[in-house]
This record gives sequence, structure tokens and C-alpha cells, in this order.
Amino acid sequence: MSSAAPSPFKVLVIGSGGREHALCWKIAQSELVSEVICTPGNAGIAEVARIGTVKATDIPGLLALAKAEAPALIVVGPEDPLAMGVADRLRAEGFEVFGPGAAGAQLEASKSAAKDLMERHRIPTAASRSFDRSGLAKGYVEGCTTWPQVVKADGLAAGKGVYICQDPAEAKAAVDAIMEEGRHGKAGIRVVVEEFLVGEEASIFAITDGASVLVLEPVQDHKQVGDGDVGPNTGGMGVYSPVPELSKRIYKQIEQHVLLPSIHMLRREGIAFRGVLFIGLMLTEAGPRVIEYNVRFGDPECQALVRRLQSDLVPILLATAKGELESIETPEWDARSVVGVVAAAEGYPQSPRKGDRIDGLKDAAAVDTAVVFHSGTKLTRTLDGDEEVTTAGGRVLTVTAMGKDSEGARDKAYEAYDKIRYAGKFCRRDIGRREEARRLQAEA
Ligand code: AMP
Ligand code: GLY
Repeated sequence: MSSAAPSPFKVLVIGSGGREHALCWKIAQSELVSEVICTPGNAGIAEVARIGTVKATDIPGLLALAKAEAPALIVVGPEDPLAMGVADRLRAEGFEVFGPGAAGAQLEASKSAAKDLMERHRIPTAASRSFDRSGLAKGYVEGCTTWPQVVKADGLAAGKGVYICQDPAEAKAAVDAIMEEGRHGKAGIRVVVEEFLVGEEASIFAITDGASVLVLEPVQDHKQVGDGDVGPNTGGMGVYSPVPELSKRIYKQIEQHVLLPSIHMLRREGIAFRGVLFIGLMLTEAGPRVIEYNVRFGDPECQALVRRLQSDLVPILLATAKGELESIETPEWDARSVVGVVAAAEGYPQSPRKGDRIDGLKDAAAVDTAVVFHSGTKLTRTLDGDEEVTTAGGRVLTVTAMGKDSEGARDKAYEAYDKIRYAGKFCRRDIGRREEARRLQAEA
């Protein structure tokens, strides 16, 4: 008897950003999958998946949706539901889930907890102290002799809870903003004060089921809002992959000195981790140091990764969810370069404008190799009954394109970006041009 092909199954993706659009786009291409359902989704995700109405943090709603749809795999995109324990709750009901439980998500959800673990397991990171009383934190920074010092809100603050302080006055103001003024809400119940690290930032993504590890291709984000790395930090303004300046030797060093010890740390702590570990690093003169752990794919890094991944993503996610990652062969990657440019809305990252009609999406998608992923977009019905796509967030789209080198990819990505129109649109013009960005900064 010949073994029958497994019957196609449903996949449920939780989230609504560019990362989730990229995941749905890739998952929908799998022959194993009959339908992708994404909740709450966005206007672009609606083109590749059926959209749900349940919010990503509505745990009872998500449980009910999962029971109604019976997906064979659930993929959790963002960190908030993971920190709330959505993966534990779904697993307890028998679902296969890609994404760590609450204990694993603590790596991202509490910087002080992550620091404690790193210290205990000797993972290289910045020396730090944690405080849950503002007076103690301020007393400590008074006595610091080396500056700058970095003051961080302990909890999830969407990348905005980090203050690089040049002197005790600035550090005390940061402690007050976080702990007394409540600028980051509950995330600021505790602060971490840490040593300032000097070097080049890099990140590494590894899918793991706690035992096996699959290291993904290098991908580089651009965090600051302005060309030449100026202005406030954002969730990410653009990406490129591969990353030529991150040599194979350094990448291996990161794997050996940081990534594998981190997986080992999780095992030793008895934390079952089935998902993706995203480690932010500083490449210092003394070697790589962990800046932070994240427990989900980066956004917009994910958009670049799915463009280059040639293998089917679904078997990888499903095997991870089941704790069978070992059975997966090394995936194939497109040798070409990808560049992704984030189209943002005026006012981002502080207070972006919303509700503007987006035109030109079809023209952008028609550019050779271009794929446009939606982040903050919404389908809106006009008074005439027509549907239109409008802006609904600070980061609106990620426009990706490929080329034989980053120059070629960049030209195509900006060509596609320029075809999109909405009021208040802006982007960084230097994505993939790190060297140039540095020069601009030096001249500024
Ligand atoms: P985080 O949210 O912890 O990733 O921090 C956001 C950004 O702040 C990082 O991407 C770095 O650019 C910067 N940063 C955080 N911690 C440090 C540190 N200890 N030394 C230097 N820069 C840092
Ligand atoms: N792009 C950085 C992040 O997703 O945290």
C-alpha cells in the first residue's frame, strides 16, 4: 500500500503586522496547507488568509477560535500574547503551537529576569543592576563613575523603554520618567541600569524546540527613524539580507558564544521553548554581548527572511511545535539579496497620523520581484460602498524586492515604494547602505 499524502490542514496565525503578513504569505504557499486564518489581520493579510475578528491579546477569544477552526498548527506572531501565556493555554487544549510559553516569553517580557538568567549561566552581556524602588536606582546612578549608563524599563515597551544617559542628572530623569511618571505603564515597575556597550549592533535568529537549533540567515534592521541612524528608535525602518559586513567568522562566534549557551540555559532552567529566539547583540572589542532577547520574529526582519527562504516554512514550524525539529533538513535560501523599505506615516514613532487612503499598491506589486507586506493598514468601506485600503498605524507597509546584490534589490524596492501614495508617507532612503549611513552621521 502506498502511503497517502497527508491531507491538507488549516493554520491559524495570531497577529496583525507586517511580520504576520509575511508569515501568512509564506505559509499560504505550502502544499500542506488548505487554508490560513489570521486574527485580527490587516488589509494585506486578507489577500492570502481568512481574517478573524479576535484580538491578539484576547486569550479566551483565541481559545474559542482555535476550537472552532481546529487548525493543525497555530503560529503566534507578537510578544504580548506570548507573555500572557497564550501558547501554554492553547497547548493545554491539545493544539500544536509555534511560540514559547509564558516562562520562555519572560526572556523578552522582563529585562531583569533575562539579566538574572544570563548572569547565572554566564552568557556575555552588559553588567547591570535592577531596582524596584526609584530612590535606590537614583542613589545607584549618583555613584556611577563611568558614563554613559543605560536605563531601561523592565517590561514590554515596544522598543521605546531604553534611555542612554550621559550623566547622573539624565539617568535620574530617566528613572523618574519610567518609575514615577509611568511613561511605559506597568513595564516601568522596575528598572535595569546597565553598562553602555560600544560596537556594531547585530542580531541572530534561531528556531528551536529546546533541543535542536536551526540558525536562520543573517538579516539587518535599521532602528532609528532618520537617514544616517539619527532620531528616535522605532520598531524598525527597513531591512536587508544577507549581511555582507557580518562575516561568517563572527556569525559562528555568535553562535558558539551566545546562541548555543542561551539554548543550553533554557534547557537547564527547565524552560520548554518552541519558537524563535531573536537575540540582539553588540559586537564589542571583547566579543559579542547580548543586548536583549526577543521570543518572536523581528518585524521587518521576518519580511526579509521569508523572501529568501526557498524551502517550505510549514514543516519547520510544525516540527518545532511538536518538538521534532531534529527531523528537519537544513533549509534552502535564495542566494540573492533582499531589501525591505518600511513605508511609515507622518508623526511615527511618536504619534502617527491614520486614516489616509493608500493608492498605487498594484503598481508597486507589479515592479519586478517586489512584494508589499502590510503592517498598519485597514480595509475601509467608503460612502459609495467601495472598499479602500487606509493607513492604520505608524508603520504602514514593508516594500520588499530582490536583486543579485543589495544595490539591485534596493533600486527595485525604492522603485516600488515610489509608486505608493498616501498623505504623510515617508521612509528612510538609506536602507541597505550602512556604510553611507555612517558617513552621513559623521558629517552631521
Ligand atoms: P533594547 O530595547 O534593549 O534592544 O534597546 C534598544 C536599543 O538601545 C538597542 O538596539 C541599542 O541601540 C541601545 N542599547 C540598549 N542597551 C544598550 C547598551 N547596554 N549599550 C549600548 N546601547 C544599548
Ligand atoms: N525590528 C526589531 C524588532 O522586531 O524588535
